This record gives sequence, C-alpha cells and structure tokens, in this order.
Amino acid sequence: MSGHESSYTPTNAFTKWLDTRLPLVRFAQDTAINFPTPKNLNYWYTFGGILAVCLVIQILTGIILAMHYEASVDGAFASVERIMRDVPYGWLLRYIHANGASMFFLAVYIHMFRGLYYGSYKAPREVLWILGCVIYLLMMATAFLGYMLPWGQMSYHGANVITSLFGAIPLIGESLQTWILGGPSIGNQTLQRFFSLHYLLPFMIAGAVILHVWALHVPGNNNPTGVEVQDVAKDTVPFHPYYTVKDAFAIVIFLIMFAVFVFYAPNVLGHADNYIEANPLVTPAHIVPEWYLLPFYAILRAITFDLGPIPAKLLGVIFMFAAIAVLFILPWLDTSKVKSMRYRPVAKQFFFGFVAVCLLLGWCGAANPDDAVIPALQGDPKLVVSYTADGQEATSEYKGGGEAYIDAKRFMESLPADANPSLSAVPAPTFMFRHFSLILTFCYFGFFVLLFFLGLTEKPKELPESIHKSVLKRHKASASAVPAE
Ligand code: HEM
Repeated sequence: MSGHESSYTPTNAFTKWLDTRLPLVRFAQDTAINFPTPKNLNYWYTFGGILAVCLVIQILTGIILAMHYEASVDGAFASVERIMRDVPYGWLLRYIHANGASMFFLAVYIHMFRGLYYGSYKAPREVLWILGCVIYLLMMATAFLGYMLPWGQMSYHGANVITSLFGAIPLIGESLQTWILGGPSIGNQTLQRFFSLHYLLPFMIAGAVILHVWALHVPGNNNPTGVEVQDVAKDTVPFHPYYTVKDAFAIVIFLIMFAVFVFYAPNVLGHADNYIEANPLVTPAHIVPEWYLLPFYAILRAITFDLGPIPAKLLGVIFMFAAIAVLFILPWLDTSKVKSMRYRPVAKQFFFGFVAVCLLLGWCGAANPDDAVIPALQGDPKLVVSYTADGQEATSEYKGGGEAYIDAKRFMESLPADANPSLSAVPAPTFMFRHFSLILTFCYFGFFVLLFFLGLTEKPKELPESIHKSVLKRHKASASAVPAE
C-alpha cells in the first residue's frame, strides 16, 4: 500500500519464508511503522485515525445490536426497547452506536474541513479526496437507513420525506420510489431492505477506507504548509512511534468526550419523538433529520420556487445533490497553485466564512422554515375583514396590534347581517428561515465559484522552502519567494 521504497528486512527464517510468499509483515511495516510522515502534522491530522476507530466501534456494536434487533413493523420498536431494558449492557451498546454515529460525523466534518483548509484535495491527491467523498456519501446513506430501524415517529416520517424525494424525479420518479420502498408505501418490506443495506454499507465503507489509505500512501501525506516532502531524511519521521503515539493520545481524548455523551447525555443529540412508536396516521409537527444532515435538509427546503419547467421540489433535490456533487469536482474547481490556506490570505477568510455558512445552514435546517429568523423584528399581523357588499366580495384591512383587532371587530359589527363578514390574519412580512436558507445556499455554492477565480487572482504569501525549514521557523529569514509547487 505504499508508494515508497520498502525498508523492511526479514530477520528470522519464518519471516524470510513468509516474505517471499505473502509479504504481510513487510506490508504492515511499510504502511504503519516505517511510513515516512511529514514532521509538521498537527492535531487536525489525528482525525483520520479517530475515524478508523469510529468505524470499528460502529461495526462491532452494530453486529451485536443486530443479534437482538427484529426488522419487522410489529417487532422493531419493541425489540429496541428490549435491547435497552433486558439485554445485558444492551443500553450501553445502543447508546454507543447511536452517539457513535454523531461522533463519526463530527470527526468526518473536522477531517474534511482540515482537507479543505490545507488544500489536501489538490494534485496529486485528487483520488484520495474523491474516495473520501464516496465514503462521506456512504456514511450519509448508512446513517439515514439506520435511523429508520428503531421504527419511531421520526424514523418513519423522516424516511417518508426522504424517499418521497425520489418521486420528484420526472418520468421514472414514481416507479423508482415504489421500487425503493418495495411497495406503494413504507412498510415491512421497506424496513427489511433498509436493515439489510444498513448492515451492508459499513463494510463497503471499510473497503473504501482501505482504498482511501492506499491512495494516501502513494503520494504520502500533505501537511499544514502544503509544501511537498523534498528530503525524506529532513522533512519526515517514521509513522511509528511519532504518529502512533500522537494519534493514540488524540483517540483517548476523543473517546473521553464520546463517553461523556454516552454516560451523561445519551439522548441529547437525538429527537424525543423517536421514543414514540411509528404511527403513519400521526405526522410529527416538525420533521427533522439528525443534526449531521441538517445543512443539506436546509438546502432542500430553501428552494420554494419553480424554475421554468423544473418544479420547486425537484429543484430542491437537484440543489441538495449538487451540494455534495460539487465536493467531487473540487480538485479541479480550485485553480490556486498554492495548497495551504496558511499562505492564501484572502481564500482563508472565505474558508472561515464557508464554515460559518455550513453551521448556519444546519441552524436553518433545524428551524421551521416559516418562522422568523429574528422574532423580535416581526411586526404585528395584518387583520383582514372579508365581507359581501352589494353582491360583491370586499375586504377591509387593519394594522397595529390590539387596536387593529378592536377596530376590525367594530367594523364587522357595523355591517348588515347579509354581509357575512369573516376575519383573518395575514402575518407581517418578515425575514424567515426559508429566506435565510436561500441566501446561505447561494453562499455555499458561491464559495466554490470563488475558489475558482481567487486561484487565478490571489497573491499568496511567501511559502517556506521546505517542511523542515518551516518546522524550525527559520523560513522567514532564509526562504526565497518559492513559487507554488
Ligand atoms: C470512514 C471515514 C474516513 C476514514 C477512516 C479516513 C481515514 C483517513 C486517514 C487514516 C488519513 C491519514 C491521516 C489524516 O490525514 O488524518 C486520511 C487522510 C485524508 N482523508 Fe480521510 N478518512 C475518512 C473520510 C474522509 C472523507 C469523508 C474525506 C473527504 C471528503 C477524506 C479526505 C482525506 C484527505 C484529503 C486526506 C489527506 C490529508 C492530508 O494528507 O493532508 N477522508 N483519511
């Protein structure tokens, strides 16, 4: 799995014998022990290892949960309750698995933003980045499928919202939706196939992770300077013990934080409605996905207008998928020759703006789209009295809080009996979450367009000559203005 020359020499008869047949020890030595790793990797680089631990935790706890879970509409909810109450340590396994999903996404978002910041998606690491995007897509699919399994209210109605999106695809949408659900609506057949796929996908993620690490080991790690390794002896250190120890330390800290959630706030990241068994006849007032999918949910709901022949629902779906698809082509969108944002003063500002946009999209995704973003600024509703005068429909409007209500009532009483007056309230125009989501959606895509133009125009800061120069902080004195690698 390494693109570097092997430094392994078998020492005893057995390892010599094995090395010429299946060079497993050589492989392990080259990838995890001797692998030359830039000496300036910071703690943001420990999240790859943390993610590997998350994946193992999810698979192990998932396999044991599956031994007790029943994938049927009548038994799913009760089987989860049994896991929580009767299965020895079932509560612990379930809480680890449910919170583990959140921790996994937290880590993957940090890992991805790290990649964005240090330009790790740029040549020669495009395939590594694309494999990461594939993993991210698979993670989202796995999480969505898993959320359906407890068969709670949010499971059922969330799955309904998302699967109905396929129905928005022209021509084939309806048949596709029926094919995915295994019938005209969500039922036993849907739950069974979702369970089967939820079990399968983590192993596909594991396969993609193997390719991801392989694609990492061919060019080697990028690093915070974005300057490639030039002298292996001066710029790198062996992965073990330097980074095994650093990664292990970060993993322990991460697991402590994880444990705080599991033992002290196991339900804080979930939704209370999912402790109510699914009832197709009662739709929750406010359907929301898990926190890690909220930004995409906000983009989906931000589009409320038709665009020519494209109806709003389909347009929302297109924008939502485009928000993920744009990540795949990022290596070719960003035209800058300099990798790390450390040396791109303008792009760096926009990077932090982009992080803020993603967080704000998450906030919008959790809110009701028709609520005012700043309730204090919302004016009083307008009262409208509709009535009939001389056989014609007429209206009379009143503004101004309590006074308006009294005036409208007085007016209604003054009308003749055959006027049939009725009173309705029209909310005052305000800046709602759906408007805010739309602005943020354009900012989200705008960031990628900006990266394209900034790369052509931005004047980068002076780059250090090499990794070891930057580590020794001598580059200020000795670096010449090295053009980007
Ligand atoms: C299960 C999920 C994942 C696992 C286990 C994983 C694992 C790793 C590991 C072990 C590394 C090397 C250590 C490090 O740089 O942190 C790495 C590097 C990297 N990963 Fe991932 N990764 C995952 C998901 C992703 C995703 C979703 C993306 C982006 C969409 C991504 C993009 C990258 C990039 C660009 C690097 C190279 C960073 C650099 O050298 O500067 N990874 N990954």
